[in-house]
Amino acid sequence: MSTYGSLFRVTTYGESHCASVGAIIDGCPPGLVLSPQDIQVQLSRRRPGQSNLTTPRDEKDLVHVQSGIEHGVTLGTPIGLLVKNEDQRPKDYTETDLYPRPSHADYTYLEKYGVKASSGGGRSSARETIGRVAAGAIAEKYLKLVYGIEIVAFVSSVGKIHLPAAVAPPSLIPTEGNEDDDEAQDALSPEFRQLLATITREEVDKHPTRCPHPDTAERMTKRIIRAKDAMDSIGGTVTCVIRNVPSGLGEPVFDKFEAKLAHAMLSIPATKAFEVGSGFRGTEVPGSKHNDAFVEKDGKLGTKTNWSGGIQGGITNGEDIYFRIGFKSPATISQSQETAQYDGTPGALAARGRHDPCVVPRAVPIVETMAAIVVMDQLLIQNSRRTAASLLPPITTLPPTMVMPSKAQ
Ligand SMILES: Cc1cc2nc3c(=O)[nH]c(=O)nc-3n(C[C@H](O)[C@H](O)[C@H](O)COP(=O)(O)O)c2cc1C
Repeated sequence: MSTYGSLFRVTTYGESHCASVGAIIDGCPPGLVLSPQDIQVQLSRRRPGQSNLTTPRDEKDLVHVQSGIEHGVTLGTPIGLLVKNEDQRPKDYTETDLYPRPSHADYTYLEKYGVKASSGGGRSSARETIGRVAAGAIAEKYLKLVYGIEIVAFVSSVGKIHLPAAVAPPSLIPTEGNEDDDEAQDALSPEFRQLLATITREEVDKHPTRCPHPDTAERMTKRIIRAKDAMDSIGGTVTCVIRNVPSGLGEPVFDKFEAKLAHAMLSIPATKAFEVGSGFRGTEVPGSKHNDAFVEKDGKLGTKTNWSGGIQGGITNGEDIYFRIGFKSPATISQSQETAQYDGTPGALAARGRHDPCVVPRAVPIVETMAAIVVMDQLLIQNSRRTAASLLPPITTLPPTMVMPSKAQ
């Protein structure tokens, strides 16, 4: 369906070539000072035509606020946001009357609905993500203002070009060598933890690839240009960190925090993989090294290492939350591909239209804003539970082991 969230509820609408795309956001707290510019910043980071590494489709993606905000303040009523589609070229897609585009959603949408948008990717198009990004930008503003929560995503790989091992997410670190040597699988790199703790969007945006390591970013640029020149495409990964999230968010068992993140991230077009914390690397590191021992931090319990990625038992523990998403090589390529028409007749299809040779630079703000929507929803849920519980008389009858020592009577 096109709605995400329970208490911060986002519904997106619009197809790639219709009049407009956008979102209705229900459940935004009233009284938040919010300007169109707060939303526009992330839409502009997502928009096409930003550099020679992205599609040349020229959309300004200016947001028009339809409802829910007056005199720059949210009313607590549904916020309607609209962005016009201005640079559609449906004629670029006439071959697709005959051919379902390989690895696009033309065939599956027709199989499912029996009818589909006449051109472009319809709802499966990345144009749909405008609504999410706009909604998530609102969540980001609230989270930063009230909790100091910071969300920063960056490109961690393009094709086979990865961040250097010291600053790479755990499962990007090559693990060849002595397969019996547990010492080789040592602690989570301090440089990577430092990167997570300090990276800013300004640093990420310094390079059009949105990779924060300049040498690697240059090599990634060359890789994307090589794909483009060969009328081909290439995939990559985006890593994201969420800082200053309070402990206690996440709704076990089916709505564990990482399950909500995975759901949100894997709903972004072109995603093929998700891992949180140590991810697949966690299968290689022995428990004696992988366990995150507790230590006292600022009068609270924290963890010495953070293989868990800030989540244990599906509940946030107050440490940095980090995760990584794999984006496939975009399906639209200009070189001719042998495939079949809807009726099964073999043939060849060469895409016209404009397309991204690699989606990860533009995916960065989409990942950040989807993360913000998840955190916002989970925060509102936990806050409502806490408020309901706080209205009850204190319990004095439980054995002390059943309550936090600090809360024991
Ligand atoms: C920011 C962004 C831009 C995208 N641009 C393109 C593109 O130019 N060409 C393309 O084939 N796919 C592009 N995609 C991916 C397609 O929308 C997607 O692969 C397709 O609709 C099929 O859906 P699926 O990959 O989720 O199965 C983009 C995705 C994102 C997140």
